[in-house]
Amino acid sequence: MSNELKIGIAGLGNVGVGVVKILARQGELLSRRSGTKLTISAVSARNRNADRGIDITPYEWCDDAIDLARRDDVDVVIELIGGEDGPARALVETALSNGKHVVTANKALIARHGESLAKLAESKGLALNYEAAVAGGIPIIKALREGLAANQFSRVYGILNGTCNYILTEMEETGRDFDDVLVEAQQLGYAEADPAFDVDGVDAAHKLAILTSVAYGCPVNFDAIHVEGIREISAIDIAYAAKLGYRIKLLGLTSKGENGIEQRVHPCLVPQKTPIAKVDGVFNAVVADGDFVDRTVFEGRGAGEGPTASAVLADIVDIARGTILPTFSIPVDEMKSQPTASMLDHFGAYYMRLNVLDVAGVIADISAILRDEEVSIESLLQQGRKPGEAVPVVLITHECREASMMRVVDAIEALEVTQERPRLIRMENFE
Ligand SMILES: NC(=O)c1ccc[n+]([C@@H]2O[C@H](COP(=O)([O-])OP(=O)(O)OC[C@H]3O[C@@H](n4cnc5c(N)ncnc54)[C@H](OP(=O)(O)O)[C@@H]3O)[C@@H](O)[C@H]2O)c1
Repeated sequence: MSNELKIGIAGLGNVGVGVVKILARQGELLSRRSGTKLTISAVSARNRNADRGIDITPYEWCDDAIDLARRDDVDVVIELIGGEDGPARALVETALSNGKHVVTANKALIARHGESLAKLAESKGLALNYEAAVAGGIPIIKALREGLAANQFSRVYGILNGTCNYILTEMEETGRDFDDVLVEAQQLGYAEADPAFDVDGVDAAHKLAILTSVAYGCPVNFDAIHVEGIREISAIDIAYAAKLGYRIKLLGLTSKGENGIEQRVHPCLVPQKTPIAKVDGVFNAVVADGDFVDRTVFEGRGAGEGPTASAVLADIVDIARGTILPTFSIPVDEMKSQPTASMLDHFGAYYMRLNVLDVAGVIADISAILRDEEVSIESLLQQGRKPGEAVPVVLITHECREASMMRVVDAIEALEVTQERPRLIRMENFE
């Protein structure tokens, strides 16, 4: 094989080690598939002597990752350090400036600096590939950018964080509350010691920002995303949702409507029969609704050594084959910023759980508030009676504006009979 692609790997943690292992096990197959010999020239991490369970002695070692970007025996830098700024960003910028292709799994970096990095890559005819950054092993970037290139997307949505999906699945299966399941997820290694990035929805939002840009050909706009995590979800809401035929999932959703692009990450009630509702545990799923293809559903492992490294190597094979595409499906110079749709204009159905005293007239008072805001009720659930005591009342609304629903919540909270602020969870029917 006369062609050769020389690789430098920065970061030898979960994903970096996975990349080295795949290349060791089936580098020859990948070389045949791409018609190019794939060779690791050099690697870098913080601690040269750490036991990583792999032999790194065949590769040159760089104490400073940025040196990878300056080496003549490196054609492509794989950035697997992480973090939206710091060494990861410096490395990627230097690599592109020095004419090296870049492959990264770093969603934070792409969500925050994707536009400027894409500009740099495209100005030099280089690849900036990031398949592993969104939904790990699921080839969703390739699907949107290539396989579904003939389509306009009415919406793209999915379960983009395996930690949250694991926690919600466990809560449903065991009836336990969030805090309890989180501790167990940390012990099992499914959640970080500091779980905030995952459970507060930030990680999913990074991925959604990237999906939006690829789907709609607009600059990445992380700050435009409405983000809510899963800390407030309680076992009681999951149980009520099940009674009503729904499951609660943390979704990332992006859609384009007359008000602009709506990007949101939040818990959602989804009908049990929909494909997205059936995705359990640490699995991820992405659904893309295209105008010609209709619904496409992708499911797979969103993280972990093997799936993430698999996506990194798919990006490497593309480069080895000479496939260099615009970073976000449209060349960055031709991208157009799109208006951001306000969440207050969001139109959808809502699940609302009230905790109110069981006294005469309470349902009439609540109904009056809903009527005044032109919110109509699809169903109402009140199980058992405890005169004079607090009881849960669960309502499902028909579709209405979010601004109306916010006023409803404030007005119900202000009633004397109300014991705590009503709990509101958005619903999606995915018809
Ligand atoms: N883990 C997953 O399942 C997954 C899934 C999708 C995307 N990603 C993304 O992939 C990237 C890597 O994740 P990971 O889980 O592999 O992280 P990790 O296990 O924490 O590994 C990070 C690696 O970076 C090295 N490193 C840190 N600072 C460095 C520096 N200044 N110079 C050179 N190397 C440095 C560390 O070196 P030492 O080992 O010597 O400390 C370590 O090897 C992140 O962007 C992450 O968001 C991960």
